[in-house]
Amino acid sequence: MAQGCSIRLTNITKTYIRGKEQVKALDGINLRVESGEFLSIMGASGSGKSTLLHLVAGLDTPTEGEIYLDERPVSDWKDDELTLFRREKIGFVFQFFNLLPTLTAEENAALPLLMMGRPKSEWQPKVDKWFERVGLAERRTHYPTELSGGQMQRVAIIRALINDPLLILADEPTGNLDSKTGEEVLFFLKGITEEIGATLMLVTHDLKVAAYGTRVITTKDGRILEMAGR
Ligand SMILES: Nc1ncnc2c1ncn2[C@@H]1O[C@H](COP(=O)(O)OP(=O)(O)OP(=O)(O)O)[C@@H](O)[C@H]1O
Ligand SMILES: [Mg+2]
Repeated sequence: MAQGCSIRLTNITKTYIRGKEQVKALDGINLRVESGEFLSIMGASGSGKSTLLHLVAGLDTPTEGEIYLDERPVSDWKDDELTLFRREKIGFVFQFFNLLPTLTAEENAALPLLMMGRPKSEWQPKVDKWFERVGLAERRTHYPTELSGGQMQRVAIIRALINDPLLILADEPTGNLDSKTGEEVLFFLKGITEEIGATLMLVTHDLKVAAYGTRVITTKDGRILEMAGR
């Protein structure tokens, strides 16, 4: 079982430069997320939520400041070490699911393992277990266009979890679902994340969704506005 990983951000800024214009997407973020914690991130459009997740995922680099994963500064990691960690230990869930249209539901879910060259005999039992678990056993060989939004997101969640990651990053995973379907999807995401012991950072505009977290923070103009513990 995975143990989850802790995250620490110190004085993080991210400035995008477009021509003569500068956009300060993040402006001095200090944040610690404990191993196994479920942190919800709220805040207005453009306040820096996605940028924050992208930096933690290593999809982008901060302009200033340091990111620590399990108290190890990311700037100290070798490139290939970071690539491997990102690929094998971080799961990302997107608002628009991002399933590959030419792969079946089960192949999409197994994608991280397929890309690592693992044989079907290895991933099939894992995929079967999770599909059963989220009520999609009958949909394993369907293509994404043959699935509902809620079903697609459940497949995407399995894809994020299939490799027993230490960290799950979810950017508005329910943003494209009706509220009932969104709640079902969240129920699975939270339950499965707890089961594998991963840390979860989730961005949402929905207060009801945010309330699933053990802690909620709000971003405003690239800063953290408030922290509410529960
Ligand atoms: N690649 C980029 N180049 C220039 N500016 C960017 C880039 N990415 C983001 N920004 C700007 O940085 C700010 C923060 O963007 P970000 O996507 O993090 O916001 P967000 O809180 O996720 O918003 P939303 O709720 O709409 O998804 C915005 O002003 C945005 O326009
Ligand atoms: Mg965003």
